[in-house]
Amino acid sequence: MDLKGRSLLEPLDFSVEETESLFALAGRVMDAPRDFCEVCRGRLLATLFYEPSTRTRFSFEAAMLRLGGQVIGFSEPGSSSVAKGESIADTIRTVACYADIAVIRHPKEGAPRVAAMSTDMPVINAGDGGHQHPTQTLTDLLTIKRARGGFDDLTVGVCGDLKFGRTVHSLIKALSRYEGVRFALIAPEELRVPEYVRKEVLEKSGTPFAETEDLAEAMPSLDVLYMTRVQRERFFNEEDYIRLKDSYILDAEKLRLARADMMVLHPLPRVNEIAVEVDADPRAFYFKQAKNGMYMRMALIMALLGV
Ligand code: NCD
Repeated sequence: MDLKGRSLLEPLDFSVEETESLFALAGRVMDAPRDFCEVCRGRLLATLFYEPSTRTRFSFEAAMLRLGGQVIGFSEPGSSSVAKGESIADTIRTVACYADIAVIRHPKEGAPRVAAMSTDMPVINAGDGGHQHPTQTLTDLLTIKRARGGFDDLTVGVCGDLKFGRTVHSLIKALSRYEGVRFALIAPEELRVPEYVRKEVLEKSGTPFAETEDLAEAMPSLDVLYMTRVQRERFFNEEDYIRLKDSYILDAEKLRLARADMMVLHPLPRVNEIAVEVDADPRAFYFKQAKNGMYMRMALIMALLGV
């Protein structure tokens, strides 16, 4: 695997083989985390978060600390020179003077790419607006792979806000590369996947998909159900959000329609879309998924730093 010095801006930046070797490395970390506790000694990760985050930022920071490295950064852009009007290009060039690798989350689509073009330091996209979230996808895929062995021939239901949900766009893109994968895209009319995902990703790759508003109807055929939050911060008005926010609520009763071995995934945070009673069901993988996120990011940091 030679990912040293590269950036991760969108899910197809790494080949299937490169992605597989990252999963293998993450698996080695999970099996023996102590073997890796010094490998990034003397290295510095910068986290530039222009939008709220819990899991993504903490899991990156925990990942670097568990590798023996250190972390600098901000989660309140108002506390940095961003507040004075500094461009993302100038900010990243400055950060590159101090750090070895940077993670950026930004409300503007493409901002991490602009940053990556302004430096030789590896840059990781931790979510850019309603566009992409490739490290969440690596985490999602690792979770599926650990439970099911691979991705071929999976029927994947993606439910909720498919329009603004960046995790959804990245997941569809990544899974479209595998043999026999098919999608049930479950969303209200107004929150269907964007045209570019339908045309440039699904149709172009020849991936079969069906669009429906009916979760119950899709449920029995699914191997994986990927639930998502309605992305309030991307709506133009609050009334639309309020009308659509509870379009789907997965509860124990609905889960009765699912296969005994279906996996329920969710990138989190959840709002209302999965009832708390589902957490105890063996099919609920979302907290395991959050934990896998740290191991996945440990593997990613090591690979991009070439340690
Ligand atoms: C997601 C995100 O930020 O896009 N969260 C995450 O990184 N796990 C999903 C969301 O906010 O709904």
